[in-house]
Amino acid sequence: MQNSHPIGVFDSGVGGLTVARAIKDILPYESLYYIGDTANLPYGNKSTKQIQDYVKKIADVLLQQGCKVIVIACSTATAAAAEILQDHVGNDLPVINVIDPIIGYLKQYYPGKTLGLIATQYTVEAATYNRKLEESKANIHLRCLATPLLVPMIEADTYQPHILETYLSDPILRDIQGLILGCTHYWLIKKQILDYFNNKLEILNGAELLALQLKQLLIDKKMNSLATSSSQDYFATTHLDAGFQAVTERLFQQKVYPVTL
Ligand code: DGL
Repeated sequence: MQNSHPIGVFDSGVGGLTVARAIKDILPYESLYYIGDTANLPYGNKSTKQIQDYVKKIADVLLQQGCKVIVIACSTATAAAAEILQDHVGNDLPVINVIDPIIGYLKQYYPGKTLGLIATQYTVEAATYNRKLEESKANIHLRCLATPLLVPMIEADTYQPHILETYLSDPILRDIQGLILGCTHYWLIKKQILDYFNNKLEILNGAELLALQLKQLLIDKKMNSLATSSSQDYFATTHLDAGFQAVTERLFQQKVYPVTL
């Protein structure tokens, strides 16, 4: 495996682009190979078996592309398939996910606090954040709300205030001391979420923490791309659509290509 090989990043759609952006900001010399599985979106209302099947097929493409690390830039895919994915690709290829880095951060900075978590139906029902927080003895009280209409709205690159307001006014989120965006898509409407709370609530997600963890991992394994090498990013989706193209152009000024799993 050469240091100049790309970092594979995937999500069901545009959400993982926020993670890819954070990676690129922290690791500008690294090349990314991004897959958005828009043909199978949303993952949040699928079964564990379906999500695992999608994820394995995506990983096979990333392996063919010679990716040196795989980043699961999707909380739902992490909840459903992080463990089977590591087995699928073997232990020589590091797989990291967007949930683990934020757990340690919350444990350090939010002990004793009550936090809200908005996420897909799958992630909320799987209770992955809750379990990982408990396992790490983080002493955080989580109030979880599934917000399934947000992903299709964000994926279409549209904004419908009443959908967001209906969710954020849910009594379960009353008196929270911070809100975890437990779906990578939601970072794209962070500003609207902050506006709803009059900028008075801490909004948290794992993208930047993941990028920092990835940086350390590449250094530890001596796999980091050299500052002198030029990076090249590639963005692909399983179904080409205007929303994905628009967000990719906005965040990366890049075109999107089709990929078949
Ligand atoms: N971006 C994915 C996540 O972080 C989302 C979702 C979906 O396809 O439902 O969970």
